[in-house]
Amino acid sequence: MADQAAGAHVGMGVDIGGSGIKGAPVDLDTGAFTADRVKIHTPHPSKPRAVAEVVAQIAAAVGEKAPSGAALGVTFPGVVRRGTVETAANVDDGWIGTDVEALLSGATGRAVAAVNDADAAAVAEHRWGAARGVRGVVLLTTLGTGIGTALLVDGHLVPNTEFGHVVLDGVDAETRAASAAKEREGLSYEEWATERLQRYYEEMEKLLSPDLIVVGGGVSRKADKFLKYLDLRAEVVPAGLRNAAGIAGAAVLAAERFG
Ligand code: BGC
Repeated sequence: MADQAAGAHVGMGVDIGGSGIKGAPVDLDTGAFTADRVKIHTPHPSKPRAVAEVVAQIAAAVGEKAPSGAALGVTFPGVVRRGTVETAANVDDGWIGTDVEALLSGATGRAVAAVNDADAAAVAEHRWGAARGVRGVVLLTTLGTGIGTALLVDGHLVPNTEFGHVVLDGVDAETRAASAAKEREGLSYEEWATERLQRYYEEMEKLLSPDLIVVGGGVSRKADKFLKYLDLRAEVVPAGLRNAAGIAGAAVLAAERFG
């Protein structure tokens, strides 16, 4: 018997990242996880079949806490259009051209909706988090292995923006400003914010003039250590759901698609 939280309308989300694959059952009315998140390291190399096996393991564990026929929402760290992966900056190139929805549906036995990770986070932030009810232009960025971006215009998502890859000072921006660059280069929060993030977000302001910038990804848990160093025109706030936004957003998108 599915062990559902009393009265809750529960869905399932899995977040495929460059370093970890995480999943949880999600209360579709609040975006909260109804049980602990399950996490397994991303296999290396992160080829589609190996990743699909891990997703199946996670979905099996999460599925014990969700309704038996629940659809699965999956975030992917690249461009996903009509279920097919088109870019894979931080996972194996073998993903390019893969129908990720068909692959994971076969592996998990569930209906699967796949979406770019930052786009999924933006859907959840708009529904329950820092962008809730915000009109105008919202730029959400996730700082992690790479930089994910999502653009909301009056709450509508412009999917698959890839502003983490703008070329700044001759290099792909995410290689200098993602939180992985901070770790790799041993930068303090202040150095990272003032030397890397400031430059990156200034460029985003120049290009997009957002009314609000939402900063997500694992490092958003430490937002108080670095957002204070940023000096921008737009208001900059941490993601309300922190790193849980991707899983929650994917779950709600899957539930909406498959009912
Ligand atoms: C990818 C994006 C993704 C981001 C965060 C980038 O390298 O190109 O699609 O959203 O990393 O995972």
